[in-house]
Amino acid sequence: MFALNFNNTTMHIFYGKVALIAYLKTIKTENSSVGFVPTMGALHQGHLALMQRSLNENDDTVVSIFVNPTQFNNQEDLAKYPRTLEEDVRKMSALSDKIILYAPTVEDIYEGHTVSQSFDFDGLENQMEGKFRPGHFNGVGTIVKRLFEIITPTNAYFGEKDFQQLQIVKKMVEKNHLPVNVIGCPIFREPNQLAMSSRNERLTPDERQEAAMIYKILTEAKEIFHTKTPEETIEFVENSFKSNTKFELEYFVIADESTLLPINHKSKDKNYRAFIAVFVNSIRLIDTISLN
Ligand code: PAF
Repeated sequence: MFALNFNNTTMHIFYGKVALIAYLKTIKTENSSVGFVPTMGALHQGHLALMQRSLNENDDTVVSIFVNPTQFNNQEDLAKYPRTLEEDVRKMSALSDKIILYAPTVEDIYEGHTVSQSFDFDGLENQMEGKFRPGHFNGVGTIVKRLFEIITPTNAYFGEKDFQQLQIVKKMVEKNHLPVNVIGCPIFREPNQLAMSSRNERLTPDERQEAAMIYKILTEAKEIFHTKTPEETIEFVENSFKSNTKFELEYFVIADESTLLPINHKSKDKNYRAFIAVFVNSIRLIDTISLN
């Protein structure tokens, strides 16, 4: 009764939470598990890998596609964010017609009040993406909490490309005592090692090839970090971008993996990670690498 015919798929697709919640009630049992993959659509291999993992590890899998307005601090970025629902449904149903899709409207989520809740993520929100995209993580916290409340998943899957987001979601779950396991999954890369992202769709073929330099510089920085100081590593990365007219470095930060605080010196027994944000024209790309 709730299965909609879309593009010849028998996948269950819901545009409203009331029908979704009612349907989930009919399929959940006391011991069954629900896996959840939140997305903003424009699906790529990385998303599909998260879905496959959820399908492998859970009885049922819900995927959401929702371009969340409250996490965009840049209105042009929001307007230009790719929206490809039909193509997304095709990709998902090729993976499995067992996937339950929730593709809500803004009204269904925000009920006429499209604003973020304010969160305290113990400072994780003040670095990097939080610094350069004011309000972004309040928007992410708001939508992820709302989606968790609607879907009540057992396990939720997030990509490590947005490592700061992953840590923030874990913190939000811990502070709000939400009964969900947040699982981080490795970054998927294109053949030239560019981290997969829905924003890659907006690059020209040349830009997409040349963007391979981002990960190349990250791996070189990792090598340098083994023998040099954080400052010397940062200098190397900043210099690498100085002569480049196409790619503009927004930030390169070396941080403690658990606190996300930038470091001045290395100490033993700590895990470090490098984070980078780069502009190609007005398209913003991020990537990250473990330095241990
Ligand atoms: O990573 C994303 O695509 C989004 O930030 C998320 C987690 C779906 C929330 O809108």
